[in-house]
Amino acid sequence: MNIKIDYTGLMESAENPRGWSESRLAVLQDRLGIAREALLQKREQGGLDFSKLLTDTRLEAERIRDFADSLAGKIDNFVVLGIGGSALGPLAVQQALNPYFYNEVRREERNGRPRFYVVDNVDPERFLQLLKLLDLEKTVFNVITKSGSTSETMAQFLIVRSVLQQALGQDYAKHLIATTDAVKGYLLPLAEKEGYRRFVIPTGIGGRFSELTPVGLLPAAVCGINILELLDGAITMDELIRQEDELGKNPAMLMAASSYLAWQEGKNISVFMPYADSLKMMADWYAQLWAESLGKRYNRRGEEVWVGQTPVKALGVTDQHSQVQLYTEGPNDKVFTFVTVEEFATDVQIPNDSSLPEELSFLSGHTLGELLAAEQKATAYALSLAGRQHRRIILPKLNPYFVGQLLVLLEWETAYMGELLEIDAFDQPGVEEGKRGTYALMGRKGLEEKRAAIERFGENRYIL
Ligand code: PA5
Repeated sequence: MNIKIDYTGLMESAENPRGWSESRLAVLQDRLGIAREALLQKREQGGLDFSKLLTDTRLEAERIRDFADSLAGKIDNFVVLGIGGSALGPLAVQQALNPYFYNEVRREERNGRPRFYVVDNVDPERFLQLLKLLDLEKTVFNVITKSGSTSETMAQFLIVRSVLQQALGQDYAKHLIATTDAVKGYLLPLAEKEGYRRFVIPTGIGGRFSELTPVGLLPAAVCGINILELLDGAITMDELIRQEDELGKNPAMLMAASSYLAWQEGKNISVFMPYADSLKMMADWYAQLWAESLGKRYNRRGEEVWVGQTPVKALGVTDQHSQVQLYTEGPNDKVFTFVTVEEFATDVQIPNDSSLPEELSFLSGHTLGELLAAEQKATAYALSLAGRQHRRIILPKLNPYFVGQLLVLLEWETAYMGELLEIDAFDQPGVEEGKRGTYALMGRKGLEEKRAAIERFGENRYIL
């Protein structure tokens, strides 16, 4: 069994005559065929390692799992220090696959696994509050940084290292794990010298595509998630996507083709709206993947194109009561992706009470799961009536296998979309300028001119 895509809401229908005909979508088949060839070739040449290295990672995963298992019962807290691709994947998978209130339940209910925290910002108040909360003797910090030089992560790391040294003396290094590149960056030499446990992020996999590397696998395994199943699901989806060459059979092609057509028709916004609290962070992960990969000024020929579709994170049903008014009656500039779960692990019945007034009794005897599903269907219908296009990813269950499939599907959709837009989906030059500016302002040598330029910039008009 695989996850499925329902694309009815993209197509023309009695409810939405403005949807596409089959032939409108099929027009892209030739371009998708070319994109497929290019991507498969790139994969062979080491340019698509998020896919190519999956089977190698599956072999390494048992070692990661065994190490993670060895921590069970010994520590109370596992804290990830990272940002962007080094934080959102671990957060998304943890939330998808462990109980929503994982940190709040008793340790036995977590099977002896530690509480899980991800610090993906440098807000001093939150950072200090967390440090005060932790019993450092029972805490392991996993510093995750591909480049080994990101200011935010390195600042967090330096603070934690110093706090650990003061609290634990020589033992401090046992409380640090470094997940970073095999050769690059400033974390690696320190980790080697000071003897932290180390995990390697393969060179060819960028941050936002790195969830299925030790970046995401270690935190997931530490929290008891079956990472072998996660990878099995990912590998199954990856093989399917690589084998199928038809739009009607290849889910990544279908997803990318519909995103591309929607974008061509002026839908500059892509709303990702799971109907499951456990998938809320998945929307954050996808938003980064979509935004950072596809928002590009130049195409591959160096021409200025300014492309990209703005991702919006939403949650069903919560955002029905906050954003859906805009979605149905505001500008028709969005395409919607719902994510639904067919079978929740649990359900709750609404009491069957015959004494209730008619206005409430319609709810009696139904379950919250039924209500959630009905609300999604009703919202999709309302969007169609308003001439809005939508699609739905259906997970049979929330388990590691299907979540692995989902991650890889969305990564491949992004890679295909990059091909259709003729841009490099794997770089992020627009982020680098801000990173360098931060280095300059914080006093890194060699960036004095940049620092002066930034200091001259702005901040001369105020009110109040
Ligand atoms: O996708 C990316 O490359 C970025 O979002 C990075 O993950 C983010 O900037 C953090 O970088 P690093 O992992 O090098 O610390």
